[in-house]
Amino acid sequence: MRIFYSIIGFLIFLLTACRKEDQAPVIPPETDEYVLRVPAGFPMPDIPADNTLTKSRIALGKRLFYDPALSADSTRSCGSCHAPHLAFSDSTAVSLGIEHRLGTRNAPSLANVAYQNKLLREGGVPTLEMQILVPIQEHNEFDFNILLVAERLQKMPKYVEMAEKAYERVPDAFVITRSIAAFERTLLSGDAPYDQYAFQGKSNALSASEKRGLELFQSERLNCSKCHEGFLFTNQGFTNNGLSEVYPDSGRIRLTGLESDRAVFKVPSLRNIALTAPYMHDGSLPTIEAVIVHYQTGGKPHPNKSPLLKPFNLTVQERKDLLAFLHSLTDQKFITNPEFRN
Ligand code: HEC
Ligand code: HEC
Repeated sequence: MRIFYSIIGFLIFLLTACRKEDQAPVIPPETDEYVLRVPAGFPMPDIPADNTLTKSRIALGKRLFYDPALSADSTRSCGSCHAPHLAFSDSTAVSLGIEHRLGTRNAPSLANVAYQNKLLREGGVPTLEMQILVPIQEHNEFDFNILLVAERLQKMPKYVEMAEKAYERVPDAFVITRSIAAFERTLLSGDAPYDQYAFQGKSNALSASEKRGLELFQSERLNCSKCHEGFLFTNQGFTNNGLSEVYPDSGRIRLTGLESDRAVFKVPSLRNIALTAPYMHDGSLPTIEAVIVHYQTGGKPHPNKSPLLKPFNLTVQERKDLLAFLHSLTDQKFITNPEFRN
Protein backbone atom coordinates (compact mmCIF):
# COMPACT_ATOMS: atom_id res chain seq x y z
CA MET A 1 0.00 0.00 0.00
CA ARG A 2 2.76 2.34 0.89
CA ILE A 3 4.44 1.51 -2.43
CA PHE A 4 1.13 2.19 -4.24
CA TYR A 5 0.86 5.64 -2.65
CA SER A 6 4.40 6.48 -3.41
CA ILE A 7 3.86 5.50 -7.07
CA ILE A 8 0.70 7.68 -7.18
CA GLY A 9 2.62 10.46 -5.50
CA PHE A 10 5.39 10.14 -8.01
CA LEU A 11 2.93 10.23 -10.91
CA ILE A 12 1.24 13.32 -9.48
CA PHE A 13 4.66 14.90 -9.12
CA LEU A 14 5.43 14.12 -12.76
CA LEU A 15 2.10 15.48 -13.94
CA THR A 16 2.31 18.70 -11.98
CA ALA A 17 5.89 19.07 -13.05
CA CYS A 18 4.74 18.77 -16.65
CA ARG A 19 1.88 21.14 -16.12
CA LYS A 20 4.14 23.70 -14.55
CA GLU A 21 6.30 23.54 -17.63
CA ASP A 22 3.24 24.04 -19.85
CA GLN A 23 2.21 27.09 -17.92
CA ALA A 24 5.59 28.76 -17.88
CA PRO A 25 7.74 27.40 -20.70
CA VAL A 26 11.42 27.52 -19.92
CA ILE A 27 13.00 29.98 -22.37
CA PRO A 28 16.49 28.86 -23.32
CA PRO A 29 19.08 31.58 -22.74
CA GLU A 30 19.74 33.69 -25.86
CA THR A 31 22.57 31.96 -27.70
CA ASP A 32 25.27 33.67 -29.70
CA GLU A 33 25.12 31.01 -32.39
CA TYR A 34 24.57 32.32 -35.93
CA VAL A 35 23.08 30.07 -38.56
CA LEU A 36 24.18 31.15 -42.03
CA ARG A 37 21.24 30.95 -44.43
CA VAL A 38 22.93 29.51 -47.50
CA PRO A 39 20.79 30.04 -50.63
CA ALA A 40 19.43 27.01 -52.51
CA GLY A 41 21.99 25.81 -55.06
CA PHE A 42 24.93 27.35 -53.17
CA PRO A 43 27.52 25.31 -51.26
CA MET A 44 28.46 26.17 -47.68
CA PRO A 45 31.30 28.74 -47.82
CA ASP A 46 34.55 28.00 -45.97
CA ILE A 47 34.58 29.63 -42.56
CA PRO A 48 38.03 29.84 -40.89
CA ALA A 49 38.24 27.82 -37.66
CA ASP A 50 39.53 30.83 -35.70
CA ASN A 51 36.65 33.03 -36.83
CA THR A 52 33.44 31.04 -36.64
CA LEU A 53 30.30 33.08 -37.15
CA THR A 54 28.50 34.32 -34.04
CA LYS A 55 25.85 37.00 -33.66
CA SER A 56 28.09 39.21 -31.55
CA ARG A 57 30.99 39.02 -34.03
CA ILE A 58 28.74 39.87 -36.97
CA ALA A 59 27.10 42.74 -35.07
CA LEU A 60 30.51 44.21 -34.25
CA GLY A 61 31.75 43.74 -37.82
CA LYS A 62 28.68 45.43 -39.23
CA ARG A 63 29.09 48.42 -36.90
CA LEU A 64 32.74 48.76 -37.94
CA PHE A 65 31.89 48.35 -41.64
CA TYR A 66 29.71 51.45 -41.49
CA ASP A 67 31.88 53.47 -39.09
CA PRO A 68 33.95 56.33 -40.57
CA ALA A 69 36.18 56.12 -37.45
CA LEU A 70 38.23 53.65 -39.50
CA SER A 71 39.46 56.44 -41.79
CA ALA A 72 42.13 58.98 -40.83
CA ASP A 73 39.78 61.98 -40.87
CA SER A 74 36.64 60.01 -39.90
CA THR A 75 34.84 60.81 -43.16
CA ARG A 76 34.71 57.51 -45.10
CA SER A 77 33.60 54.02 -44.12
CA CYS A 78 33.70 50.69 -45.94
CA GLY A 79 30.02 51.34 -46.68
CA SER A 80 30.90 54.59 -48.51
CA CYS A 81 32.34 52.56 -51.39
CA HIS A 82 30.43 49.33 -50.77
CA ALA A 83 26.82 50.54 -50.42
CA PRO A 84 24.02 48.02 -49.76
CA HIS A 85 21.57 49.50 -52.29
CA LEU A 86 24.24 49.03 -55.00
CA ALA A 87 24.90 45.42 -53.95
CA PHE A 88 27.85 46.68 -51.88
CA SER A 89 29.59 48.51 -54.73
CA ASP A 90 29.52 52.21 -55.64
CA SER A 91 28.38 54.18 -58.66
CA THR A 92 31.60 55.94 -59.71
CA ALA A 93 34.20 54.69 -62.17
CA VAL A 94 36.92 54.83 -59.52
CA SER A 95 36.18 55.26 -55.83
CA LEU A 96 36.50 58.34 -53.69
CA GLY A 97 38.61 58.08 -50.54
CA ILE A 98 39.25 60.64 -47.82
CA GLU A 99 39.79 64.28 -48.88
CA HIS A 100 38.14 63.43 -52.21
CA ARG A 101 41.20 61.45 -53.30
CA LEU A 102 40.46 59.33 -56.34
CA GLY A 103 41.48 55.69 -56.42
CA THR A 104 42.49 53.82 -59.55
CA ARG A 105 40.01 50.97 -59.60
CA ASN A 106 36.28 50.37 -59.64
CA ALA A 107 34.84 49.04 -56.37
CA PRO A 108 33.55 45.48 -56.82
CA SER A 109 30.33 44.21 -55.27
CA LEU A 110 30.77 42.29 -52.02
CA ALA A 111 27.79 40.01 -52.70
CA ASN A 112 28.88 36.40 -52.02
CA VAL A 113 32.45 37.55 -51.33
CA ALA A 114 32.67 34.64 -48.85
CA TYR A 115 33.19 32.37 -51.87
CA GLN A 116 35.96 34.39 -53.54
CA ASN A 117 39.21 32.40 -53.36
CA LYS A 118 41.43 35.38 -54.21
CA LEU A 119 40.62 38.98 -53.49
CA LEU A 120 41.20 42.19 -55.40
CA ARG A 121 41.28 42.55 -59.14
CA GLU A 122 44.67 40.84 -59.50
CA GLY A 123 43.88 38.27 -56.81
CA GLY A 124 46.76 39.18 -54.52
CA VAL A 125 45.01 38.80 -51.17
CA PRO A 126 43.94 35.35 -49.95
CA THR A 127 41.53 36.09 -47.08
CA LEU A 128 38.88 38.61 -46.10
CA GLU A 129 40.65 39.13 -42.79
CA MET A 130 43.83 40.25 -44.58
CA GLN A 131 41.99 42.33 -47.15
CA ILE A 132 40.73 44.71 -44.47
CA LEU A 133 44.26 46.06 -43.99
CA VAL A 134 44.31 47.26 -47.60
CA PRO A 135 41.65 50.03 -47.53
CA ILE A 136 42.72 51.11 -44.04
CA GLN A 137 46.28 51.80 -45.25
CA GLU A 138 45.64 52.83 -48.85
CA HIS A 139 46.49 56.52 -49.39
CA ASN A 140 43.41 56.99 -51.61
CA GLU A 141 41.03 55.21 -49.24
CA PHE A 142 41.32 55.56 -45.41
CA ASP A 143 45.03 56.59 -45.31
CA PHE A 144 45.25 55.28 -41.77
CA ASN A 145 46.85 52.44 -39.82
CA ILE A 146 45.15 49.52 -38.10
CA LEU A 147 47.03 50.18 -34.84
CA LEU A 148 45.74 53.75 -34.78
CA VAL A 149 42.22 52.53 -35.58
CA ALA A 150 42.50 50.13 -32.62
CA GLU A 151 43.73 52.92 -30.34
CA ARG A 152 40.76 55.04 -31.37
CA LEU A 153 38.23 52.23 -30.84
CA GLN A 154 39.67 51.33 -27.44
CA LYS A 155 38.56 54.76 -26.22
CA MET A 156 34.97 54.02 -27.23
CA PRO A 157 33.17 52.06 -24.45
CA LYS A 158 30.63 50.51 -26.86
CA TYR A 159 33.42 48.91 -28.91
CA VAL A 160 35.25 47.71 -25.81
CA GLU A 161 32.04 46.04 -24.65
CA MET A 162 31.23 44.51 -28.06
CA ALA A 163 34.80 43.24 -28.61
CA GLU A 164 34.81 41.61 -25.19
CA LYS A 165 31.53 39.85 -25.93
CA ALA A 166 32.58 38.74 -29.42
CA TYR A 167 36.24 37.74 -28.95
CA GLU A 168 37.03 38.27 -25.24
CA ARG A 169 39.61 40.90 -26.22
CA VAL A 170 39.88 44.66 -26.52
CA PRO A 171 39.13 46.03 -30.00
CA ASP A 172 42.58 45.37 -31.45
CA ALA A 173 43.75 44.50 -34.98
CA PHE A 174 42.69 40.87 -34.47
CA VAL A 175 39.18 41.87 -33.51
CA ILE A 176 38.80 44.53 -36.23
CA THR A 177 39.87 42.25 -39.09
CA ARG A 178 38.03 39.15 -37.79
CA SER A 179 34.72 40.86 -37.08
CA ILE A 180 34.47 42.77 -40.38
CA ALA A 181 35.31 39.55 -42.25
CA ALA A 182 32.60 37.71 -40.28
CA PHE A 183 30.05 40.34 -41.32
CA GLU A 184 31.17 40.15 -44.96
CA ARG A 185 30.68 36.35 -44.98
CA THR A 186 26.99 36.84 -44.22
CA LEU A 187 26.45 38.92 -47.39
CA LEU A 188 24.93 36.08 -49.40
CA SER A 189 22.85 36.94 -52.45
CA GLY A 190 20.97 34.06 -54.04
CA ASP A 191 17.33 34.99 -54.43
CA ALA A 192 17.22 36.75 -57.80
CA PRO A 193 14.55 35.70 -60.33
CA TYR A 194 17.32 33.61 -61.95
CA ASP A 195 17.81 31.69 -58.68
CA GLN A 196 14.10 31.15 -58.26
CA TYR A 197 14.08 29.68 -61.76
CA ALA A 198 17.31 27.67 -61.56
CA PHE A 199 17.39 26.52 -57.93
CA GLN A 200 13.92 26.93 -56.44
CA GLY A 201 11.89 25.12 -59.07
CA LYS A 202 9.87 28.19 -60.12
CA SER A 203 9.79 27.67 -63.88
CA ASN A 204 7.94 30.94 -64.50
CA ALA A 205 10.26 33.14 -62.41
CA LEU A 206 11.97 34.08 -65.69
CA SER A 207 10.06 35.56 -68.64
CA ALA A 208 10.38 34.01 -72.12
CA SER A 209 12.81 36.78 -73.07
CA GLU A 210 14.98 36.21 -69.96
CA LYS A 211 15.08 32.48 -70.69
CA ARG A 212 16.22 33.14 -74.26
CA GLY A 213 18.86 35.49 -72.85
CA LEU A 214 20.10 32.77 -70.50
CA GLU A 215 20.43 30.40 -73.47
CA LEU A 216 22.42 32.99 -75.40
CA PHE A 217 24.63 33.60 -72.36
CA GLN A 218 25.43 29.88 -72.24
CA SER A 219 25.77 29.45 -76.00
CA GLU A 220 29.02 28.59 -77.81
CA ARG A 221 28.40 31.64 -79.97
CA LEU A 222 28.75 34.08 -77.05
CA ASN A 223 30.82 31.97 -74.64
CA CYS A 224 29.91 34.20 -71.66
CA SER A 225 29.41 31.30 -69.28
CA LYS A 226 32.85 29.85 -70.11
CA CYS A 227 34.26 32.56 -67.83
CA HIS A 228 31.18 33.77 -65.95
CA GLU A 229 30.20 30.26 -64.89
CA GLY A 230 28.39 28.48 -62.07
CA PHE A 231 26.31 29.86 -59.23
CA LEU A 232 28.69 32.83 -58.76
CA PHE A 233 28.81 33.65 -62.47
CA THR A 234 32.61 33.53 -62.34
CA ASN A 235 35.08 30.68 -62.69
CA GLN A 236 37.29 32.74 -60.34
CA GLY A 237 39.95 32.73 -63.04
CA PHE A 238 42.14 35.57 -64.33
CA THR A 239 42.21 36.66 -67.93
CA ASN A 240 42.28 39.55 -70.37
CA ASN A 241 38.92 40.35 -71.93
CA GLY A 242 40.17 42.73 -74.62
CA LEU A 243 39.03 45.91 -72.90
CA SER A 244 41.78 47.99 -74.48
CA GLU A 245 45.09 47.79 -76.29
CA VAL A 246 47.03 49.73 -73.67
CA TYR A 247 46.40 49.40 -69.95
CA PRO A 248 47.59 51.99 -67.41
CA ASP A 249 46.77 49.35 -64.74
CA SER A 250 49.06 46.39 -65.41
CA GLY A 251 46.83 43.92 -63.53
CA ARG A 252 48.02 40.53 -62.32
CA ILE A 253 51.61 41.02 -63.50
CA ARG A 254 51.99 43.25 -60.42
CA LEU A 255 51.62 40.09 -58.38
CA THR A 256 53.31 37.40 -60.45
CA GLY A 257 55.84 39.33 -62.56
CA LEU A 258 54.83 37.15 -65.53
CA GLU A 259 54.39 38.86 -68.91
CA SER A 260 51.45 36.51 -69.55
CA ASP A 261 49.69 38.20 -66.62
CA ARG A 262 49.98 41.74 -68.00
CA ALA A 263 46.52 43.39 -68.18
CA VAL A 264 45.00 40.23 -66.76
CA PHE A 265 42.20 40.69 -64.22
CA LYS A 266 39.92 38.56 -62.11
CA VAL A 267 36.72 37.41 -63.82
CA PRO A 268 34.07 39.26 -61.78
CA SER A 269 30.78 37.78 -60.62
CA LEU A 270 27.80 39.05 -62.59
CA ARG A 271 25.32 38.80 -59.73
CA ASN A 272 23.36 42.06 -59.26
CA ILE A 273 25.16 43.38 -62.34
CA ALA A 274 22.36 45.86 -63.12
CA LEU A 275 23.20 47.67 -59.86
CA THR A 276 26.98 47.85 -60.09
CA ALA A 277 27.64 50.20 -63.04
CA PRO A 278 30.06 51.41 -64.26
CA TYR A 279 31.91 48.25 -65.28
CA MET A 280 35.37 46.65 -65.56
CA HIS A 281 38.42 47.13 -63.29
CA ASP A 282 38.65 50.82 -64.25
CA GLY A 283 34.92 51.55 -64.52
CA SER A 284 35.45 52.53 -68.16
CA LEU A 285 32.22 51.03 -69.53
CA PRO A 286 29.21 53.00 -68.27
CA THR A 287 26.33 50.61 -69.00
CA ILE A 288 25.55 46.92 -69.58
CA GLU A 289 24.65 47.89 -73.15
CA ALA A 290 28.21 49.19 -73.61
CA VAL A 291 29.57 45.92 -72.18
CA ILE A 292 27.54 43.91 -74.71
CA VAL A 293 28.79 46.11 -77.57
CA HIS A 294 32.34 45.51 -76.31
CA TYR A 295 31.95 41.73 -76.39
CA GLN A 296 30.19 41.81 -79.78
CA THR A 297 33.34 43.30 -81.35
CA GLY A 298 35.42 40.47 -79.88
CA GLY A 299 37.45 42.99 -77.89
CA LYS A 300 40.56 45.00 -78.72
CA PRO A 301 43.73 43.18 -79.72
CA HIS A 302 46.05 42.34 -76.82
CA PRO A 303 48.74 39.62 -76.60
CA ASN A 304 47.05 38.17 -73.51
CA LYS A 305 43.47 38.34 -74.77
CA SER A 306 41.59 35.09 -74.15
CA PRO A 307 40.91 33.02 -77.30
CA LEU A 308 37.37 32.55 -75.98
CA LEU A 309 36.56 36.09 -77.11
CA LYS A 310 35.44 36.30 -80.72
CA PRO A 311 33.14 38.72 -82.53
CA PHE A 312 29.44 37.81 -82.80
CA ASN A 313 26.26 39.41 -84.10
CA LEU A 314 23.04 39.86 -82.20
CA THR A 315 19.63 40.70 -83.62
CA VAL A 316 17.77 43.54 -81.90
CA GLN A 317 15.62 40.96 -80.12
CA GLU A 318 18.63 38.88 -79.04
CA ARG A 319 20.31 41.91 -77.53
CA LYS A 320 17.11 42.67 -75.60
CA ASP A 321 16.97 39.07 -74.39
CA LEU A 322 20.57 39.07 -73.19
CA LEU A 323 20.00 42.35 -71.35
CA ALA A 324 16.80 41.02 -69.80
CA PHE A 325 18.65 37.94 -68.56
CA LEU A 326 21.45 40.02 -67.01
CA HIS A 327 18.78 42.08 -65.22
CA SER A 328 17.26 38.87 -63.83
CA LEU A 329 20.39 38.50 -61.67
CA THR A 330 19.22 41.35 -59.42
CA ASP A 331 18.32 40.16 -55.93
CA GLN A 332 15.93 42.72 -54.40
CA LYS A 333 15.80 40.89 -51.07
CA PHE A 334 19.57 41.12 -50.77
CA ILE A 335 19.76 44.87 -51.26
CA THR A 336 16.86 45.62 -48.91
CA ASN A 337 17.77 43.10 -46.18
CA PRO A 338 17.81 45.10 -42.90
CA GLU A 339 20.36 42.62 -41.45
CA PHE A 340 22.96 44.00 -43.86
CA ARG A 341 22.12 47.70 -43.73
CA ASN A 342 23.44 50.36 -41.41
C1 HEC B 1 37.51 54.45 -51.23
C2 HEC B 1 36.63 53.36 -51.58
C3 HEC B 1 36.73 52.08 -50.81
C4 HEC B 1 36.67 51.92 -49.45
C5 HEC B 1 36.55 53.01 -48.39
C6 HEC B 1 36.72 50.50 -49.21
N1 HEC B 1 36.81 49.82 -50.39
FE1 HEC B 1 36.84 47.83 -50.62
N2 HEC B 1 37.31 48.04 -52.55
C7 HEC B 1 37.40 49.25 -53.22
C8 HEC B 1 38.03 49.05 -54.51
C9 HEC B 1 38.30 50.13 -55.54
C10 HEC B 1 38.33 47.67 -54.60
C11 HEC B 1 39.07 46.96 -55.73
C12 HEC B 1 40.54 47.17 -55.41
C13 HEC B 1 41.50 46.34 -56.17
O1 HEC B 1 41.11 45.43 -56.87
O2 HEC B 1 42.71 46.59 -56.04
C14 HEC B 1 37.86 47.08 -53.36
C15 HEC B 1 37.92 45.71 -53.07
C16 HEC B 1 37.42 45.14 -51.92
C17 HEC B 1 37.33 43.72 -51.67
C18 HEC B 1 37.72 42.61 -52.63
C19 HEC B 1 36.53 42.06 -53.31
C20 HEC B 1 36.85 41.04 -54.38
O3 HEC B 1 35.93 40.40 -54.87
O4 HEC B 1 38.03 40.87 -54.75
C21 HEC B 1 36.80 43.57 -50.42
C22 HEC B 1 36.50 42.27 -49.71
C23 HEC B 1 36.59 44.90 -49.88
N3 HEC B 1 36.96 45.82 -50.83
C24 HEC B 1 36.11 45.17 -48.61
C25 HEC B 1 36.25 46.43 -48.00
C26 HEC B 1 36.16 46.66 -46.58
C27 HEC B 1 35.88 45.63 -45.53
C28 HEC B 1 36.36 48.00 -46.38
C29 HEC B 1 36.47 48.76 -45.07
C30 HEC B 1 37.50 48.29 -44.15
C31 HEC B 1 36.55 48.58 -47.71
N4 HEC B 1 36.50 47.60 -48.65
C32 HEC B 1 36.71 49.94 -47.95
C33 HEC B 1 36.97 50.46 -52.73
C34 HEC B 1 36.84 50.75 -51.38
C1 HEC C 1 37.52 34.96 -71.50
C2 HEC C 1 36.71 35.13 -70.34
C3 HEC C 1 35.47 36.00 -70.48
C4 HEC C 1 34.43 35.83 -71.35
C5 HEC C 1 34.27 34.80 -72.44
C6 HEC C 1 33.46 36.84 -71.02
N1 HEC C 1 33.91 37.61 -69.98
FE1 HEC C 1 32.94 39.13 -69.11
N2 HEC C 1 34.60 39.56 -68.03
C7 HEC C 1 35.79 38.87 -68.03
C8 HEC C 1 36.80 39.58 -67.28
C9 HEC C 1 38.23 39.16 -67.02
C10 HEC C 1 36.17 40.76 -66.83
C11 HEC C 1 36.81 41.88 -65.99
C12 HEC C 1 37.70 42.75 -66.84
C13 HEC C 1 38.21 43.95 -66.10
O1 HEC C 1 38.11 44.02 -64.89
O2 HEC C 1 38.73 44.85 -66.75
C14 HEC C 1 34.79 40.70 -67.30
C15 HEC C 1 33.83 41.66 -67.04
C16 HEC C 1 32.49 41.59 -67.41
C17 HEC C 1 31.48 42.49 -66.98
C18 HEC C 1 31.67 43.66 -66.03
C19 HEC C 1 31.56 43.19 -64.60
C20 HEC C 1 31.87 44.24 -63.59
O3 HEC C 1 31.44 44.07 -62.45
O4 HEC C 1 32.55 45.22 -63.90
C21 HEC C 1 30.30 42.07 -67.55
C22 HEC C 1 28.93 42.70 -67.38
C23 HEC C 1 30.61 40.93 -68.37
N3 HEC C 1 31.96 40.64 -68.26
C24 HEC C 1 29.69 40.22 -69.11
C25 HEC C 1 30.04 39.26 -70.05
C26 HEC C 1 29.16 38.75 -71.07
C27 HEC C 1 27.71 39.17 -71.26
C28 HEC C 1 29.89 37.87 -71.81
C29 HEC C 1 29.48 37.13 -73.05
C30 HEC C 1 29.09 37.96 -74.16
C31 HEC C 1 31.21 37.81 -71.22
N4 HEC C 1 31.27 38.68 -70.16
C32 HEC C 1 32.24 37.00 -71.68
C33 HEC C 1 35.99 37.66 -68.67
C34 HEC C 1 35.16 37.14 -69.65
